[in-house]
Amino acid sequence: MTDDRDKALAGAAAAAEVVDGMLIGLGTGSTATHAIEAIGARVAQGLSIRAVATSRASEALARRLGIAMLDFADVPRLDLTIDGADAIDPRFFAIKGGGGAMLREKVVAAASDRMVVIADGSKRVAAIDAGPLVPVEILPFARASVLAALGAGAVLRGGEHEPYVTDNGNYIADCRIDLSDPRAVAARLAAIPGVLGHGLFLDEVDAAYFAQNGTVSRLER
Ligand code: 5RP
Repeated sequence: MTDDRDKALAGAAAAAEVVDGMLIGLGTGSTATHAIEAIGARVAQGLSIRAVATSRASEALARRLGIAMLDFADVPRLDLTIDGADAIDPRFFAIKGGGGAMLREKVVAAASDRMVVIADGSKRVAAIDAGPLVPVEILPFARASVLAALGAGAVLRGGEHEPYVTDNGNYIADCRIDLSDPRAVAARLAAIPGVLGHGLFLDEVDAAYFAQNGTVSRLER
């Protein structure tokens, strides 16, 4: 069974949590795409929901599928957000932002009564310090000063000549950071002027669906 099939199973399992009348947040990435497709299929069968998206790509997909989309700028609270992750550990600490959408993903998750992560088994780690680099969204105006403050472990995504630009018009630095104390790292990153957000999700995740070799397991925080 491929990881993509597992991603689809996890996405479909989480999509089954969506019920009529909900206002939901749609995540970003290949696993979230499966969830959006599963929700879209249910909308085609009569499910009545409204949604906001965490990226332009997810917004476009959801609209194509006929999901009623709202502008998050008009939405104070959501019932549920379903999103992928790059790594998640038993403490429900997650790293996100491989797809560059972690700033919108963070604000949407924070406004949600419940955030559910969907992932194939490769994303399930013993501790996020064994996981991927931590993406940090930075104000282009402050590129050099923020990179200097982040230190030698920070690399501008896309490189200096063609930096990756987020949906918010900002840059991303992927940072190799010692995560033995994730809360201290999150506080340090947030305190750097010009850092607009980061991919450490330490309090947002309420539950996770993991799919591995065709079997889905669900963990609640
Ligand atoms: C985007 C994300 C994604 O959810 C994360 O990168 C996982 O992506 P995928 O499901 O494609 O593996 O955080 O910013």
